[in-house]
Amino acid sequence: MFATMGALGLAPTAEAAQRDQPFRALKPGDFTLTGRGAAKVVIVGGGIAGLASAYELGKAGYDCTVLEARDRTGGRNFTLRGGDSTTDLYGNTQTARFTDGQYMNAGPARIPQWMVTLDYCRELGVPIEVFTNVNADAYIFNQKSGMKQPERYRTAKADVYGYVSELLAKATDRGALDKELTVADRERLVEFLKDWGELGDTLTYEGGERRGYSVVPAAAGTPGVLLGDIPTASEVFASGVGRYFSFEFGFDQAMLMFQPVGGMDRIPHALTKAVGTHRIRTGAVVSDITDKGSGVAVTYTQGGRTKVIDADYCIAAMPPNILAKVQHNLGSGVQRALEAITPSSAAKIGLEYRSRWWELDHNIYGGITETDQDVTHIWHPSYGFHGERGVLIGYYNYDDDADAYAKLTPGEREKRAVAAGVKIYGEQYRTELASSFSHHWRQTPHLEAAWHDTPGGPDDPRYQPLNRPTGRVYFAGDWLSYTDAWQHGAFTSARKAVTALHARVLSS
Ligand code: PHE
Repeated sequence: MFATMGALGLAPTAEAAQRDQPFRALKPGDFTLTGRGAAKVVIVGGGIAGLASAYELGKAGYDCTVLEARDRTGGRNFTLRGGDSTTDLYGNTQTARFTDGQYMNAGPARIPQWMVTLDYCRELGVPIEVFTNVNADAYIFNQKSGMKQPERYRTAKADVYGYVSELLAKATDRGALDKELTVADRERLVEFLKDWGELGDTLTYEGGERRGYSVVPAAAGTPGVLLGDIPTASEVFASGVGRYFSFEFGFDQAMLMFQPVGGMDRIPHALTKAVGTHRIRTGAVVSDITDKGSGVAVTYTQGGRTKVIDADYCIAAMPPNILAKVQHNLGSGVQRALEAITPSSAAKIGLEYRSRWWELDHNIYGGITETDQDVTHIWHPSYGFHGERGVLIGYYNYDDDADAYAKLTPGEREKRAVAAGVKIYGEQYRTELASSFSHHWRQTPHLEAAWHDTPGGPDDPRYQPLNRPTGRVYFAGDWLSYTDAWQHGAFTSARKAVTALHARVLSS
């Protein structure tokens, strides 16, 4: 009967967990007629994958317990507000001094429209607002490439698109593409390029209003003054500004993007509330996962006491680099797979300013300034426009740059980040600063990574012991998805694990 229900789509089957199947939320009703009951599940890790697992299993009445090593749920989804404190693995303790209403998202901070993260925001009642990922008025400053001063995105784009269009149009016009294109194709291509690059009749790029104005157009009598000093094609290519423009074409980075109103951690807060705080143990550091055949025993230490929790199943939703240090009897295949996945560094510094000088003096409302200095990305806040104060992200950098800053004291990090910003925005970047807070993921206890490198991708055969249950233990996390470093990966991986677990409970 169960198989028939499955075939009719009335009960989840093992097949339901297969490729490209839409997720179907579990229901208490799934158990009617099967004579089975919801099982007890211990979930190791209270980040997005762990919370989502508990939340989805809870819909069908599973008895879930979440063990979280940190003193808060959310994992790498971490928002800092005034009063929040951290101590990194180098021993630096910081307390954020942001004023009321100001915050920084130290981890995830932007959500594309196609990711299930937004579905969870809708379902959980977490309000969202636009996150500005690209802004024509933000700057580009490539100091190493010899740029003398920052340039607005719009100016850089006009020049790059202009010259590329000019070169391709001229090449086409001179017959360089005669083998590839028909006469009609060539005419259409040149027509497109004239528009795309704002070319003149001689197919030459001569600048134009897309570059921007030094005096903006206004009332009659003020037609505006175009920005002067149009660089040559050679200068434009040498500046390297073009390297930033494909970013916004990315499937995961294209506008519009969104953020929860009030901070990204509104998502784990809502999940935590939905799961029930009585089901979540924080400060619980797991040391052992033993599959006993008939159940799973998880050993953890909380408040100096070591405890064991027994359950029917376990979902291991910790980062792989941390899980690899936990004792288990899941076999060398699991251990080898965990160790093949390597942790990566990323970091951010939040700079609170006494005024929103980037809006007042630069007319920049949200968006990202790009630079080849080691701060890499500077983010303008996408909330609190026209307010009194605001928090800029003074660096969002990765790998060696993040590690180099991590080795400095928080005060030195601030000094170095501010020095880089002053080169782009001027002295206000220093004089208006009220306080700062820096966060480095590789040096964060119990996480020790911003995201992970999974050689060969998550479906590489070596990760098979993680992509299917090993005994009674399931694995979940963004690191087992095609969207590593996105909450979407954690959510979809959790959905996959609970779907498989539920199908097994129903058929066992
Ligand atoms: N999701 C993170 C971000 O948007 C990390 C990431 C960056 C992932 C770029 C993919 C591409 O910053």
